[in-house]
Amino acid sequence: PRSILFSRHGESMYNQLGLLGGDSELSPNGVKYSEALPALVKRIMGDQDFTVWTSTLKRTIQTASKLDYKKVQFKALDEINAGLCDGMTYKQVKQKFPEEYSMRSQNKFEFRYRGGESYRDVVLRLEPIIMELERQQNIMIVSHQAVLRCIYSYFLEVCPEELPYIKIPLHTLMKLTWTAYGCEAQMYSLDI
Ligand code: G3H
Repeated sequence: PRSILFSRHGESMYNQLGLLGGDSELSPNGVKYSEALPALVKRIMGDQDFTVWTSTLKRTIQTASKLDYKKVQFKALDEINAGLCDGMTYKQVKQKFPEEYSMRSQNKFEFRYRGGESYRDVVLRLEPIIMELERQQNIMIVSHQAVLRCIYSYFLEVCPEELPYIKIPLHTLMKLTWTAYGCEAQMYSLDI
């Protein structure tokens, strides 16, 4: 059966500091994940060849760097743009933009960061990626949590209210497989 692999980037320096967005490098733990990823892919998929799609941000490119497959970067796979909140902690967002913080908790799918994007915006910019995924075989995507929530929701038919709350853990490879009954997801976590 047809399947797609996907993973978030390994832990980044910004993840360690609890900061939104940015374009930071991987942390030492994230580097360990990038080093462990090739063997994990082989364990699950054997010698199958892949094309790896990353975002244009350092943390996904570094995460894919040890994978010995063809790689392509897509801007459409970049993380949700947090606009003015980029580089802040959630606590700072709450202090500096309290109304926006509460608007986001009321409707996380529709909320658009000032100067940035909403989850709906991300769903729209992913349309060409999804179209291409439907046509291609043997694709592995290394991207970001918000983006992977949107891709996952498209294939597993998760509604917009639940989409922004799906947990896509770090250091976990996810495999979507199409069976006679629909699309199934399996997760393979590494203890790093
Ligand atoms: O760094 C941002 C995450 O990938 C998504 O965070 O749950 O605030 O949308 P969020």
